[in-house]
Amino acid sequence: MIQIKNLNKTYKSIQALKDVNLQVNKGELFAFLGPNGAGKTTFIRILTGLTKLSSGTVLLNGFDVGNSGIESRRQCGLVPQSINLDRELTVFENLNIHGRFFRMNKPKRIRKIEELLDYIEMGDRKKTLVKNLSGGMKRRLMIARALLHSPAILFLDEPTVGLDAGMRRKIWALLKKIQQQDTTIFLTTHYIEEAEFLANRVAFLDKGSIVVVDTPGNLIKQQGAWALDRLKEDDMETLYFNDRKEANDHIAVHKDSFTLRRVNLEDSFLALTGKKVK
Ligand SMILES: Nc1ncnc2c1ncn2[C@@H]1O[C@H](COP(=O)(O)OP(=O)(O)OP(=O)(O)O)[C@@H](O)[C@H]1O
Ligand SMILES: [Mg+2]
Repeated sequence: MIQIKNLNKTYKSIQALKDVNLQVNKGELFAFLGPNGAGKTTFIRILTGLTKLSSGTVLLNGFDVGNSGIESRRQCGLVPQSINLDRELTVFENLNIHGRFFRMNKPKRIRKIEELLDYIEMGDRKKTLVKNLSGGMKRRLMIARALLHSPAILFLDEPTVGLDAGMRRKIWALLKKIQQQDTTIFLTTHYIEEAEFLANRVAFLDKGSIVVVDTPGNLIKQQGAWALDRLKEDDMETLYFNDRKEANDHIAVHKDSFTLRRVNLEDSFLALTGKKVK
């Protein structure tokens, strides 16, 4: 579905992506994790045709983003990092413009808009001006807009940033539902638990390079099952154990104030890059 070979992107003096190779399968939900400035947005912009690559090849459903023009654009729906809806227009009008851009005929456009508004539970908001929507509604509307022309791949750049925990979960459920309809989903996130919960596979991106690609389960397993955290001067020390009893024994022997918890993806990321994602 997505095939990337030796992708490089340079902005004047900054190399934003370095020799990225990646394959994402049809129907997969794939997450890109990485700290600020890692190159996540640059990557999504290249795949969705908004930014030119410097070298390498990107195929979407077989179409080369470098020279297939509109065909590769048609394969993707994009939910960008910042909200770019037209604030002065209604929910319906925002969707309608997008449908016209993709040359959907009127009956099809209207039918699909109705269907998607029901899908995102905003059927009663058709005539509401976008400026009067909550942040969570705006995000859901951007997802509906990205799905309007029935793309094979949905790209989301930090889809839940700035949302409260309840709305974040609502969007997670929506993304799972979209995936079940056979859409391939590619998202970027700072939220480790988002990637851990949603993704079939994740890639860690650091300074433009992919550090590792695997399932969340495999990455976590490599680190151990249990973690003990302890505050140490001005930093946190974490110890890893495969067995809960071993961890408890360590607490009993050392008598320090450790906190016991399950290992998570953040631990794997820290071990691989020495950095926190956030
Ligand atoms: N249009 C641009 N011109 C010059 N440099 C850019 C441009 N866009 C991005 N960069 C640089 O490329 C690097 C990657 O930026 P990018 O926005 O892709 O990172 P990101 O992983 O999405 O970060 P964030 O988590 O903050 O959204 C950064 O060093 C950034 O400053
Ligand atoms: Mg970004």
